[in-house]
Amino acid sequence: MGVTDTGRAPEVKQFDESKLGVKGLVDSGLTSIPPLFIHPPETLSDLGPARPSSYSIPTIDLSGCDSGHRPSVVEEVGRAARGLGFFQVVNHGVPAEVLDRTIAAVKAFHEQPAEVKARIYRREMETGVAFFSNLDLFHSKAASWRDTLQIRLEPKGNMEEIPEVCRNEVMEWDQEVWRLGGLLMGLLSEGLGLSPGKLQELTCLETRVMVGNYYPYCPQPNLTVGLMSHTDPGVITLLLQDQVGGLQVKHDNEWVDVTPVPGALVVNIGDILQIMSNDEYKSVDHRVLANPNQEPRVSVAVFCNPSNRENEFRPFPELISSDKPAAFRQFNLNEYMRRFFTKELEGKSLINYFRA
Ligand code: OGA
Ligand code: NI
Repeated sequence: MGVTDTGRAPEVKQFDESKLGVKGLVDSGLTSIPPLFIHPPETLSDLGPARPSSYSIPTIDLSGCDSGHRPSVVEEVGRAARGLGFFQVVNHGVPAEVLDRTIAAVKAFHEQPAEVKARIYRREMETGVAFFSNLDLFHSKAASWRDTLQIRLEPKGNMEEIPEVCRNEVMEWDQEVWRLGGLLMGLLSEGLGLSPGKLQELTCLETRVMVGNYYPYCPQPNLTVGLMSHTDPGVITLLLQDQVGGLQVKHDNEWVDVTPVPGALVVNIGDILQIMSNDEYKSVDHRVLANPNQEPRVSVAVFCNPSNRENEFRPFPELISSDKPAAFRQFNLNEYMRRFFTKELEGKSLINYFRA
């Protein structure tokens, strides 16, 4: 169901045309959220902090992965990818100053005057840079309490298009993601019993899109969300979050908090990697609660995707046997991405569409 079915269309259009984003609404001093942000009862009844549970997101120390410790790091990464589908990494080689600079730069972008941001408010990615609120604004039942700066990192566009307030930091971040992404893809390939270069040979790190998310204070956090429950469509996602918190992962029908760990990066498996791993690795539902704190929450996610859209993707033949037949049919990324961009963000409908 889209907004047009619910009679919300004019409100949504007006919000989009204002180009102010959610931060603009908050800055205008409102004390209740506009109706277009109010989510249906089935979403709201499930909100709130995670219950204490036996699950927690593992934190994996990467410092030993170029030494004799590599097999145990591979084992930990593989276990996390098969289980919760999310893990955090520390001793990843990215200097703490770079983490801080990246968050600060994205925050600085969002905290510029509204008219400066409005100049790049758009939903098209031709220039490689866009500021918008809610990617699926026109496809979803309700909007979420978040603004986004989206930048295509690779293939590179014109770097001058990246807002100057964060340009150097974004380029520096991309360098780090490229290096660390390669390391992680090696570990994840080995965790499947494949050669370490496997995922990178399939160009899995060669298309990178960054989203700099800004979750302003929400006056009614029990009526909306920061980011709706969804799975990431790509291969892997590398996420840098500040210390505010609010990200949750679903496991065994329970929400588990991804509690911020200073200096850590969050890694999660996307739908394409679940498919290529023939269901061994899990692309799991995750969401962000609306931010109840006066302090805004900032996160920077980089989605890694294969660059070769014409190639056929399917589960690795090495992982298929008579006991474990291919769980997915073959498809190419053009078809896959077309389906992704025309659906609502919620749920697992994308991956299930390609099931064998
Ligand atoms: C995403 C995502 C989490 C966050 O952008 O796909 O899951 O903490 N982000 O912003
Ligand atoms: Ni996500």
